This record gives sequence, C-alpha cells and structure tokens, in this order.
Amino acid sequence: EVIIAPEYELSTLVADAIERLVREEPSSVLGLATGSSPLSVYDELTQRHEQDGLSFAGVRGFMLDEYVGLPASHPQCYRNVIDAEFVSRVDFAEGAVQGPDGTAEDLRAASADYDHAIAEAGGIDLQILGIGTDGHLAFNEPGSSLSSRTRVKTLARQTRIDNARFFDDDVDAVPQHCLTQGLGTILEARHLVLIATGGHKAEAVHQMVEGPVSSMWPATVLQMHPHVTILVDDAAASRL
Ligand code: GLP
Repeated sequence: EVIIAPEYELSTLVADAIERLVREEPSSVLGLATGSSPLSVYDELTQRHEQDGLSFAGVRGFMLDEYVGLPASHPQCYRNVIDAEFVSRVDFAEGAVQGPDGTAEDLRAASADYDHAIAEAGGIDLQILGIGTDGHLAFNEPGSSLSSRTRVKTLARQTRIDNARFFDDDVDAVPQHCLTQGLGTILEARHLVLIATGGHKAEAVHQMVEGPVSSMWPATVLQMHPHVTILVDDAAASRL
C-alpha cells in the first residue's frame, strides 16, 4: 500500500497504527528506526503518552542498526539517539529496547545473538523503516543479499556523506562500519511501515515501488513482503 499525503498526516497515520497495536496488545514488539524520517512519529507518540496515557510499559523494541567504532557514550550511537528521541520520553521498562551491540569484541557473535533475541521475543509486530537515498534499508547498502541476516557491513560513501550532518558535517568522522539487521531479518517483521519525505528520496522510492527487485536497490525487497505500508509526501512520490 502506498499512501501519498503531507508529512504531518503521514506521522499521524503511523502513530495511529502503532497506538492501535499497542492498545490491542500491550506486549507488542516494535521495530524502531533512527534517521530523521520517523522523528515526527516519535514526537506524536510521546504526545499521546503524555496526553492520552498511551503506555509502552509492556512493549519491547528492537533497533535496526548501529554504528561500529563509536564509544558507547557517543551521542551519535544509535542506542543514544533512540533513547533521546523516543525511549526515554515514554515509559518503556528498563532494558525493553535493544539494539545490535556495535561495541562487542566479537561482532559476528553479537549479530547472531541479536537475531536470536528478536526470535525469542516472538518476532517484530510492526517495523518502522526509513530509506536511504541509495535505496538502503537499515544499513543494507546496495549489493546486500536479499536474504541477509544481522551482520557487519561497510557503509557506502553516499551514506557517510548523507549522515555527515550528524557529525558536524565531517564525513571522515562518520564510522565506516556498522551492524545492521539483514534484509531477511527485516522481512520477518509482520508489518513493515516505511516513511520517506523530500525530493532527494524520489529516485529510491521510485525504484522501491516500481523497479525490478534487485540487490542494487535493497528496498525493492519489500515487494516480496505481504504487508507493507509506504508513506510518502508529494516530493518523495514525484517519480511514481
Ligand atoms: C540511516 C539509517 C537508516 C535510515 C536512513 C535514512 O542511514 N541507518 O535506517 O532509514 O539513514 O535516514 P533519514 O530518515 O534521516 O533520511
């Protein structure tokens, strides 16, 4: 399903879907994404928590990805970003939100443990997603296996340029490696909800929705999932 609407309506729609899920099943499992795209959804959910008592006390969360090579205290560690943007603003229980451990000595083992933890939790009910300008999902850069599991990846130059804005515009300060859920891991979530806004996402959105399924545009793998909602503004939809 592709929904084209102004940005504020998109975040309301996503927040509505999450609120429905959490009120129906208070022990739901959410997949959380970093990046700018879901920020207004987190703001909306925080507001509903404060004003309407929407509670995340029984909800568990799994993050999509994490940088490798940043100290755990670095403000741009996705763990710290998601805490600041959402987790600490609502009432998640201590330890209820997990991310891949980018500081682990054995990154392979940490990746396998992470997939295992998601499975143990019963899988993800609703996964929030953004999309990179090169069509990446989480940090699955072009060329990623469509059935990949959580693993170490090297970030594409374009992604490091795109994310330099979080590192004082210094591309060299952006880590070169990351841990990311694989495309196969992401496809196991029961409902995928992707948000994309702005003209710089138009080509990636076009490929994702209308292009042939190809590892060169990793988000095209969503065409193989039975329940995907794609929410885009006019600019991001301009090539559809
Ligand atoms: C990063 C994240 C992705 C995110 C993408 C788009 O690379 N790892 O999960 O979807 O950026 O970010 P934004 O929403 O800021 O455009």
